Amino acid sequence: MTILVTGGAGYIGTHTLVELMQAGHQVVVFDNFCNSTPAAVLRVEQICARKVKIIQGDICDRQALTQVFTSHQIDAVIHFAGLKAVGESVAKPLLYYRNNVSGTATLCEVMAEAGVTRLVFSSSATVYGDPQHLPIVEDFATCATNPYGRTKLFIEEMLRDLQRSDTSWRIALLRYFNPIGAHPSGLIGENPAGIPNNLFPFITQVAIGKRESLSVFGGDYQTPDGTGVRDYIHVVDLALGHLCALERIMDKEGVLTVNLGTGQGYSVLEMINTFEQVSGRTIPYQIVDRRPGDIASCYADPSLARHELGWVAECGLKEMCRDGWNWQQQNPTGY
Ligand code: NAD
Ligand code: WQD
Repeated sequence: MTILVTGGAGYIGTHTLVELMQAGHQVVVFDNFCNSTPAAVLRVEQICARKVKIIQGDICDRQALTQVFTSHQIDAVIHFAGLKAVGESVAKPLLYYRNNVSGTATLCEVMAEAGVTRLVFSSSATVYGDPQHLPIVEDFATCATNPYGRTKLFIEEMLRDLQRSDTSWRIALLRYFNPIGAHPSGLIGENPAGIPNNLFPFITQVAIGKRESLSVFGGDYQTPDGTGVRDYIHVVDLALGHLCALERIMDKEGVLTVNLGTGQGYSVLEMINTFEQVSGRTIPYQIVDRRPGDIASCYADPSLARHELGWVAECGLKEMCRDGWNWQQQNPTGY
């Protein structure tokens, strides 16, 4: 198949390109590089020893998107393009609604005009807000606590409405938990601009000497050691989940909403300990106040993904740390 990958130059996009190509698919990348670089796609080419078609464009640009569909025979779209910084979304909500929600609406309109109705969408565990029970099952109530999360919720609802209006649409809404790590080759990985918002890239930057120490946000949560618990998932496992979802929607009508996580939660201190063991580096840290908007614990019930997609995350925390550290060491200043 030929898959259009919006946001394909980004962190999860590049890892998914590798798995798509290694499974024999053709890919077309559409990205405006607002949070990435074409160099990342060149690394994908290096891993796969194949050229990748890259188109620089914005999902809000209808003409540019139409051009993609008229010049390529696209069978399905994997839609990663979006802005994802929670804090920025609080400061600039309209930017997030325009880019994420309106951009997705434009993409779907253009897809419909081209007769392409297979879509895999990057949603997030953030749509569960602060869950009342754990592990998190897909039919739990949804509730976002910031504009970024609301863009994911609104897009999910928009795509469900779209499918109700035209049942030829087949859509997978993939709710990612916390993707970390990198491709085992060390050629592609997460490359945050500026100070990392997320725990794992912050740890690897402390380990490489780019930052002095880690602030652990809160030591008084109702968790075994008082620090926040999350379901970290290796980015290659996550990428493979997209292939399974793609295959599934090819022969199943409707909207499939599914968690992609491991089902196992780890605390911040467990993450630090595992990273120290794997890397042989010490991570200096201090426990500071909670980060506003954070929750105590969040981990998936991944059984629906196993039943519906035949997908299970294979890598454990040590492999995530090993591969993420390998990427950081090989690319101390990113791409
Ligand atoms: P990323 O920022 O690395 O990748 C997103 C890509 O989309 C970037 O290459 C960026 O340049 C591109 N992009 C953004 N707006 C665009 C636009 N208007 N037109 C064209 N391209 C555009 O982020 P990622 O971590 O790879 O995340 C991919 C998707 O998964 C996002 O939608 C994100 O919200 C979602 N997600 C990420 C996480 C996570 O922790 N990384 C968790 C849950 C969901
Ligand atoms: C993990 C744990 C922090 C940084 C975010 C988004 C979510 C999704 C994934 C896109 C928490 C603690 C963190 C630090 C720390 N993205 N922490 N010091 O908050 O679970 O999820 O990324 O959809 O929407 O909100 O991930 O990596 O930021 O935090 O102590 O410097 O690490 O408090 O307990 P989070 P995270």
